[in-house]
Amino acid sequence: MTQDELKQKVAQAAMHYIKDVAIVGVGTGSTVKHFINYLANIKGDIEGAVSSSEMSTAQLKSVGIPVLDLNAVGTLDVYVDGADEVTPHKHMVKGGGGALTREKIIGAASKKFICIVDETKCVDVLGKFPLPVEVVPMARSYVAREMVKLGGQPVWRENFITDNHNVILDVHNLDIIDPIKLEQIINNITGVVCVGIFAMRPADVVLVGKGTEVITL
Ligand code: 5RP
Repeated sequence: MTQDELKQKVAQAAMHYIKDVAIVGVGTGSTVKHFINYLANIKGDIEGAVSSSEMSTAQLKSVGIPVLDLNAVGTLDVYVDGADEVTPHKHMVKGGGGALTREKIIGAASKKFICIVDETKCVDVLGKFPLPVEVVPMARSYVAREMVKLGGQPVWRENFITDNHNVILDVHNLDIIDPIKLEQIINNITGVVCVGIFAMRPADVVLVGKGTEVITL
């Protein structure tokens, strides 16, 4: 199976968690694109979705699924999203698509976080994938210097503005041995809007497309 076929397979497997769910939290990325296509097949059975990005919002609307404001719907039962890396502890690095802040908000506001990945995303230790950090534009250089102090090599994602009108630093070569601690440390740097370590609120279920199967962690 190709990587994209594996993404499609885990996206389909995530539909198992959508039974009797009225409002679905929807992430961002190429794996979630498949998920939205499956969601479209049952759009008559759901009230709508809360979306983590303008990109997913556009796709949801294009398939006829109402997009709802998180403030209007309260706690969500289920949130489905991809990841750039995931460990056996269900800690993740996310933000390759730049939607990390809204993704973290929806994850926090959801009872169940279902992470859908192909096997290439599974790691023992986070950090090979450059860590996305969303930053207020005027704090870019300051936060970059703080990242260097933490041992990382920040690279400004040029020509990219997030849905929240901020910028992204992709931080290379960080040793993320203690993801919860590093998430807290980076969260505390002034000017950081959100760090792409998802460890304080890990996934609850990870569906991995591996070989021709879907494995549940
Ligand atoms: C976007 C994300 C995505 O979930 C992550 O980048 C994985 O994307 P894909 O499904 O395309 O591999 O965090 O901000």
